[in-house]
Amino acid sequence: MKWINWNRITKITRKYNDEDEENGSNVEKNKELKITQKEIKNKEKSFIESRLAWKKLFDYPIPKHANDVTYTLGGTIIVLGIVQLITGVILQQFYIPNSNSMPGAYESVSEIANNVSLGFVRNLHYWGAQFLIIMVLLHSARVFISGAYKKPREIQWLAGVGLLVTVFAFSYTGTVLKWDQEGTEALEHQIGTAKIAGPLGIFLTEQFAPSVSLLSRIFALHVTAIPAIAVPLLGIHLILIRLNGIASPKVLDKYKCITARVDQKVPFSTHINKMLINGAVVTIIVIAFSLIWSAPLYFKGVEGVEVTKPPWFLLWLYPLENIFGVPAIAYTTIFVIILFVAVPIVDRKEVTDPRQRNKMMIAMFLLLLSFVGLMIMGTLSPSMQHNMG
Ligand code: HEM
Repeated sequence: MKWINWNRITKITRKYNDEDEENGSNVEKNKELKITQKEIKNKEKSFIESRLAWKKLFDYPIPKHANDVTYTLGGTIIVLGIVQLITGVILQQFYIPNSNSMPGAYESVSEIANNVSLGFVRNLHYWGAQFLIIMVLLHSARVFISGAYKKPREIQWLAGVGLLVTVFAFSYTGTVLKWDQEGTEALEHQIGTAKIAGPLGIFLTEQFAPSVSLLSRIFALHVTAIPAIAVPLLGIHLILIRLNGIASPKVLDKYKCITARVDQKVPFSTHINKMLINGAVVTIIVIAFSLIWSAPLYFKGVEGVEVTKPPWFLLWLYPLENIFGVPAIAYTTIFVIILFVAVPIVDRKEVTDPRQRNKMMIAMFLLLLSFVGLMIMGTLSPSMQHNMG
């Protein structure tokens, strides 16, 4: 909707016509003319645009390659994040975050799962989380392969690593919340690994606040502390994308000079369209999964018994735990985070073409191979009882 004060413009024009006849040119007249020109210019802008400068924010030029599917994975994660937020808020209304009451956490989740509409919301929340993890891993792989973590995008990469950790933390704490056998075992492992960290890990054990059930505190982490870390990290990540722009490939030419590919520019709004379309496609797939397969819920947890294995995104830790015990979970997780953090510190050459970064590509391939190998071992090994210390 456009709002132009045409009455005022007509009045002023009429006034100047009269003055012109009387040969009147003065400062006041020029001032008013300028205002009139501004109003006419504003006519081109929409109601929102003239107030929020929407176009300045969203219609800056980006390279055309930023609209390739692999470059819309970050946007797809945002769309899935919104699905998680909406479904999470709905589930929160019916969930009892207490392991000691009757009915408690497990009973409330059973009730949600047995209700047709709420069960569907729960399935959406579960499958949304699985796809979100897959999308974050694919997005990280795209950024790694295209060498987009290099100068000046190191902080963007580090904020991304922080986001990766929060995505895993969301999924891990979510697994505990259902308080079935899988959830109980996940919490026991958390207490076991927290003990290794000594005073640093006390926050994640029952001793920190003995009068509050640990499950209630895990719930608080899931709905407040982890989002409170994730949202600013996402803010930094997105602001830096706006400031640094999307990386363009840089190759080493035959004269050993770095040449950057200069792509045709398109408005950022075209990227938002692509991101929303791809996000919608993935959301439809999540809906289809939710209609076909229910989110898992085992029998109510029995403490001290270990019969399940970790969820798929942590299954790679299982064979290490079987061989080296519970401490392996903490040490391996820290080691993998250090590896991710080290990427932009270790690889600082300007060239981004993966064919000219053999060492980094081999390192990534070996890491991937280790994860796949460990996951296969985790799938094939029988479930085992571990000493939680
Ligand atoms: C919640 C998780 C995340 C969200 C919502 C997110 C979002 C985005 C978006 C929207 C972009 C713009 C281009 C694109 O979509 O590819 C982007 C770029 C980028 N992301 Fe992420 N990201 C996340 C996680 C990560 C992770 C885990 C890493 C690395 C470990 C990372 C590193 C980067 C870097 C370096 C760029 C710049 C890429 C370029 O300029 O080509 N992000 N991210």
